Amino acid sequence: MTNKSKSAIYPSLEDRLVVVTGGASGIGAAIVEAFAMQRSQVVFLDIQDEAAKELNARLGAIGTKVPVYYRCDLTDIEALQRTITDVVERFPAIDVLVNNAGNDTRHSVDEVTSEYWDESMAANLKHQFFVTQGFIPAMRRVGRGSIVNMSSISWAIPSTDVPVYVTAKAAIVGMTRTLAHTLGKDNIRVNCVMPGAILTERQRRLWLTEEYKAEVLARQALKRMILPDEVARLILFLASDDSSAITNQSYVIDGGWI
Ligand SMILES: NC(=O)c1ccc[n+]([C@@H]2O[C@H](COP(=O)([O-])OP(=O)(O)OC[C@H]3O[C@@H](n4cnc5c(N)ncnc54)[C@H](O)[C@@H]3O)[C@@H](O)[C@H]2O)c1
Repeated sequence: MTNKSKSAIYPSLEDRLVVVTGGASGIGAAIVEAFAMQRSQVVFLDIQDEAAKELNARLGAIGTKVPVYYRCDLTDIEALQRTITDVVERFPAIDVLVNNAGNDTRHSVDEVTSEYWDESMAANLKHQFFVTQGFIPAMRRVGRGSIVNMSSISWAIPSTDVPVYVTAKAAIVGMTRTLAHTLGKDNIRVNCVMPGAILTERQRRLWLTEEYKAEVLARQALKRMILPDEVARLILFLASDDSSAITNQSYVIDGGWI
């Protein structure tokens, strides 16, 4: 198990400007906290105002730099672009972007309509491209950058209950690779993280039945559930200068499932 007080500190992350999408809850909140603990200045985008306020209050009480929360529905690309303009006016130089937000609502092949396809792609894929596009100038300004895109192992295992989500998560791996090659000349690295079953509040509330938990543990090499903070700590490494030669890659973090 993990012991946060003994986790690595990355000196290169101190004072870095880090943007996290979907940072109010789940893995995103663990990412916001992990960067705040590195003394980075975090900006996060989400639609859950209460959760964002609670997270900032908790981090303020610990004494980290308080993250800056922007309310933004990432599926509304015009609103997203306005938010990016606001963020960059306030923070003209961005060092790290974590494209974390997603929505894994269950759906069957038979239920998927054309509208649902578009909604799910908007919730899981489209914003990752436009958030990246929007922050590229602010990374070029600093002459470096690290972008981490959140995929999933769902497209690499025999998943059947989230077909559009799985399609989006596979596309993120390809998008990561083309962006890594496009942005490498600007010293901007682009990598991808593929989590397995991560024990977030939402997973606990909605999907984690005893049967599902038993299936996860049977498939993993490690016989315990993997926690959001463990994903966050992989992302810290990919964001830091300690991974300065790593780009164009996808990292599985799943307790040995695949
Ligand atoms: N939890 C897992 O087991 C797991 C496994 C593999 C991949 N992932 C991926 O990790 C990422 C985080 O997942 P999670 O489990 O923490 O999810 P979560 O649902 O617990 O949290 C997602 C966060 O994103 C925000 N968000 C969602 N849609 C948004 C929108 N349109 N605009 C603004 N904010 C929005 C939510 O409000 C929430 O705070 C996702 O990309 C997910 O696909 C999670």
